[in-house]
Amino acid sequence: MEISIGLLSVLITLAIIHIVQAQEQLGFISLDCGLPKNETSPYTETQTGLSFYSDENFIQSGKTDRVQANLESGFLKPYTTLRYFPEGIRNCYNLSVEMGRKYLIKASFLYGNYDGRNIAPVFDLYLGPNLWAKVDLQQVNGTQEEILHTTTSNSLLICLVKTGETKPLISALELRPMRTGIYTTQYGSLKNLFRMYFNKSGSRLRYMKDVYDRSWAPFVMNEWTQISTALEVGNSNAFVLPADALQNAAMPTDSSAPLTITWNLENRDDQCYLYAHFADIQDSQANDTREFDILLNGQHLYGPLVPYKRNVNTISSGSGITCKGGGCNLELIRTNRSTLPPLINAFEVYTVILFPQSETDESDVGAIKNITSSYGLSRINWQGDPCFPQQLRWDALSCSNKNMSMAPRITSLNLSSSGLNGTIAAAIQSLTQLETLDLSYNNLTGEVPEFLGKMKSLSVINLSGNNLNGSIPQSLRRKRLKLYLEGNPRLIKQPKKKFPVAIVSSVPVAIVASVVIVVLFLVLRKRNSTIVEGIHLPPRTSTENDTFANKKSKRFTYSEVIKMTKNFQRVLGKGGFGMVYHGTVKGSEQVAVKVSQLSTQGYKQFKAEVDLLLRVHHTNLVSLVGYCYEGNHLALIYEFLPNGDLKQHLSGKGGISIINWSTRLRIALEAALGLEYLHIGCTPPMVHRDVKTANILLDENFKAKLADFGLSRSFGGESQESSAIAGTHGYLDPEYYRTGRLAEKSDVYSFGIVLLEMITNQPVINQTSENCHITQWVGFQINGANILEIMDPKLPKDYDINSAWAALDLAMSCADSSSSKRPSMSEVIQVLKKCIACENSGIRNNRGLEKT
Ligand SMILES: *[C@@H]1O[C@H](CO)[C@@H](O)[C@H](O)[C@H]1NC(C)=O
Ligand SMILES: *[C@@H]1O[C@H](CO)[C@@H](O)[C@H](O)[C@H]1NC(C)=O
Ligand SMILES: *[C@@H]1O[C@H](CO)[C@@H](O)[C@H](O)[C@H]1NC(C)=O
Ligand SMILES: *[C@@H]1O[C@H](CO)[C@@H](O)[C@H](O)[C@H]1NC(C)=O
Ligand SMILES: *[C@@H]1O[C@H](CO)[C@@H](O)[C@H](O)[C@H]1NC(C)=O
Ligand SMILES: *[C@@H]1O[C@H](CO)[C@@H](O)[C@H](O)[C@H]1NC(C)=O
Ligand SMILES: *[C@@H]1O[C@H](CO)[C@@H](O)[C@H](O)[C@H]1NC(C)=O
Ligand SMILES: *[C@@H]1O[C@H](CO)[C@@H](O)[C@H](O)[C@H]1NC(C)=O
Ligand SMILES: *[C@@H]1O[C@H](CO)[C@@H](O)[C@H](O)[C@H]1NC(C)=O
Ligand SMILES: *[C@@H]1O[C@H](CO)[C@@H](O)[C@H](O)[C@H]1NC(C)=O
Ligand SMILES: *[C@@H]1O[C@H](CO)[C@@H](O)[C@H](O)[C@H]1NC(C)=O
Ligand SMILES: *[C@@H]1O[C@H](CO)[C@@H](O)[C@H](O)[C@H]1NC(C)=O
Repeated sequence: MEISIGLLSVLITLAIIHIVQAQEQLGFISLDCGLPKNETSPYTETQTGLSFYSDENFIQSGKTDRVQANLESGFLKPYTTLRYFPEGIRNCYNLSVEMGRKYLIKASFLYGNYDGRNIAPVFDLYLGPNLWAKVDLQQVNGTQEEILHTTTSNSLLICLVKTGETKPLISALELRPMRTGIYTTQYGSLKNLFRMYFNKSGSRLRYMKDVYDRSWAPFVMNEWTQISTALEVGNSNAFVLPADALQNAAMPTDSSAPLTITWNLENRDDQCYLYAHFADIQDSQANDTREFDILLNGQHLYGPLVPYKRNVNTISSGSGITCKGGGCNLELIRTNRSTLPPLINAFEVYTVILFPQSETDESDVGAIKNITSSYGLSRINWQGDPCFPQQLRWDALSCSNKNMSMAPRITSLNLSSSGLNGTIAAAIQSLTQLETLDLSYNNLTGEVPEFLGKMKSLSVINLSGNNLNGSIPQSLRRKRLKLYLEGNPRLIKQPKKKFPVAIVSSVPVAIVASVVIVVLFLVLRKRNSTIVEGIHLPPRTSTENDTFANKKSKRFTYSEVIKMTKNFQRVLGKGGFGMVYHGTVKGSEQVAVKVSQLSTQGYKQFKAEVDLLLRVHHTNLVSLVGYCYEGNHLALIYEFLPNGDLKQHLSGKGGISIINWSTRLRIALEAALGLEYLHIGCTPPMVHRDVKTANILLDENFKAKLADFGLSRSFGGESQESSAIAGTHGYLDPEYYRTGRLAEKSDVYSFGIVLLEMITNQPVINQTSENCHITQWVGFQINGANILEIMDPKLPKDYDINSAWAALDLAMSCADSSSSKRPSMSEVIQVLKKCIACENSGIRNNRGLEKT
């Protein structure tokens, strides 16, 4: 005794259900697909009393037809007309639903030889991005797919997907909101396998008998006895069964035999959910007992159960259960003490159906629909979920696809050569994860919108070959954004900025910083740029004659040192070499005196180096006035710089004024000039080894001079090891640290760090945030692309943001971890000069930056 599922899902029903009164159909969606335009919509279906609407407002594609005339009488009205889809692969209904609500969803398909060709179609049915069912009408004249499904958004997409030559069709779509708390699953939705009540001569029960419009098929096996009652049966549980279902029941005719129901699963591993409804409707004696156990495939499932007298009791399987081999066998077996046989009033079986792929982010879907409709674009396959299933993704898009349980996001939009006109659609900014935007070769007009620059995820924008005008917004000038604009003759390529960084029409706006520098350098060279106005740049002079000739006069005795420092009275600081004291020579000339004990390297090397240092002379290098060696007393006597070091000024401690941006640029340039001199101006060339803000000293006019160069070899530092790798943590070139090979580019790295400090005033190594290095901090900030958030917040906001960006680009390329990508100091100087020129030109490019 086996139930044929096909039998149970037959749509034909001729029995007339009396409509007592029009009941509420709250939240019901009843669509008669393909209802002809000359027929009224909505209409009341006479047997169910349901109001059916035409489907034309819920789908934009497809054609309508109706089943062969001689078949019409056999079917309820909504199933006799149909919509079929000769065009497009995927055609979709978009239904407005309540998010998070459980719905009974029915889709009905009746071929009825509407086209007279007698070729029934085969196609796929999708629920949003997920396959719902494979529909094959070659075996049956009509079929219905029914699920209990909880919606995940406010719209539900039901799509028909062509899989072969035949055209998909649909006859009706019905959605019934369910109450919560019933038909719950651990995961997945429920696909209805069958739903039955027990009456030999009854008809299918539907709305209004069933408030949820579940469809109950009448069914009684030969070996069963049907009983009925006219008395009311208590119907107090949440399943709200039709009264007719509860008033009928089946019992085994052989009262000692079990009642057995057998069915097969579509797939042998399907998970089942069972719902059996019981009410004892038989008149019986007071001393009678009805008690039975419920078994599935021989396994005890529930019991013993004593059904309530004329009151419903629903037993469900609770969790998904499987049937070995896909064959299920439910048995109701009376217990020894039971005087009456088992009985059952209604029975439902569902299998779990998974819809694992999340729908595309709702706002992305809204945005892409707005964009396509703004441009009047309609492609037949731009229906349904834009991203999934993968093979049906809207062309022109690509989407993120990392995790099925996360809503896919649109990451690229390519509407190149799509005949777009008008302006660049504002809805593009709602695609907040967009990385690539290609609108090239259209007829787009208007300005390049500001919002494109604010879309942080965008890394490629191709607007070539349009008819855009105006200038390029400032916001598009940011790192890691490739902007293509060639072929827009009316576009002003170099608008608000005098500074040519990165806006080089057909060249990406921002490329690797070092490339920017190179471009800049070339531009600058082409323009034959000379010394920037308003800055005093010293000539690069060699002052070799100073040194050896006057060497003797530069040697001081230890007692002279004691005298000049007034017995080491005033401490200026402590350096790697030793303590630094204030001193006076020749009555008035102030000096800084560094005092140390002889290090292990010995006097000879000291002398050689001092001789070398005495020859080095540059206005941006702190000059060595003299030296002392006497016994094991060593001292170096330098010119005194009254304004201390740059580090103090940046920290702003002690009420020291915060030096403004243009002064910072000048100080950077001066320090760079000093460093360049060490690298290429003096013989032999020197590597400073310890460039840092604390080693940039400021004279009475805040002119910068580099200190502490050329010493590290002999006077390395605190420990033996550090003589191998000299320098200060955080400023130290990582490549030098790795390889131990010292070169000028190591100083360039340190200079980059100095420049970053001058721009951002961030700690070189932030102890509080996982030792975050300043280059990492800036790297994160650059993604945000807001220069205001990168710049030292203490700076007055009167700087030119182009010069700020250029300086930042420069600093980052100097601090590149690979020395080969760093510019030389000469290149650094060129860029800094250009920054200063830009800053000093008096025309501020800081629109929108003012604090309000
Ligand atoms: C609608 O039009 C079709 C023909 O186009 C016709 O056969 C049908 O009777 C019309 N129905 C109504 C209700 O007028
Ligand atoms: C489909 O309908 C036709 C015409 O009524 C009938 O001859 C045929 O048996 C039906 N096929 C099935 C599978 O029910
Ligand atoms: C159930 O069957 C009885 C007779 O067997 C019949 O009188 C009754 O109308 C049926 N009830 C329903 C709801 O179909
Ligand atoms: C139940 O009681 C009735 C009389 O009320 C009696 O005829 C019948 O035998 C009893 N049945 C059982 C199983 O005791
Ligand atoms: C019920 O009766 C059968 C045979 O009379 C016996 O084998 C079985 O153990 C009994 N079951 C219980 C639960 O008493
Ligand atoms: C479906 O309709 C809703 C509401 O009208 C809309 O927000 C959504 O974008 C539509 N979805 C698709 C894929 O057309
Ligand atoms: C697109 O969205 C904008 C608002 O962002 C709205 O003004 C416009 O009417 C929308 N266009 C379409 C075609 O939906
Ligand atoms: C997908 O995301 C969910 C929730 O965010 C997470 O629980 C799951 O582990 C992720 N799966 C994979 C394969 O990453
Ligand atoms: C956009 O599509 C065009 C042609 O279909 C193609 O040439 C171009 O490379 C695509 N753009 C991107 C960014 O992939
Ligand atoms: C732009 O418009 C002109 C005429 O208005 C038309 O000839 C041309 O084909 C269009 N170009 C594109 C790429 O659509
Ligand atoms: C775009 O082109 C269409 C048809 O070619 C035209 O109707 C529409 O007005 C144009 N839109 C704009 C903004 O030029
Ligand atoms: C637009 O530029 C991007 C980035 O180089 C490129 O991938 C794409 O192919 C370009 N589009 C067209 C149509 O050439």
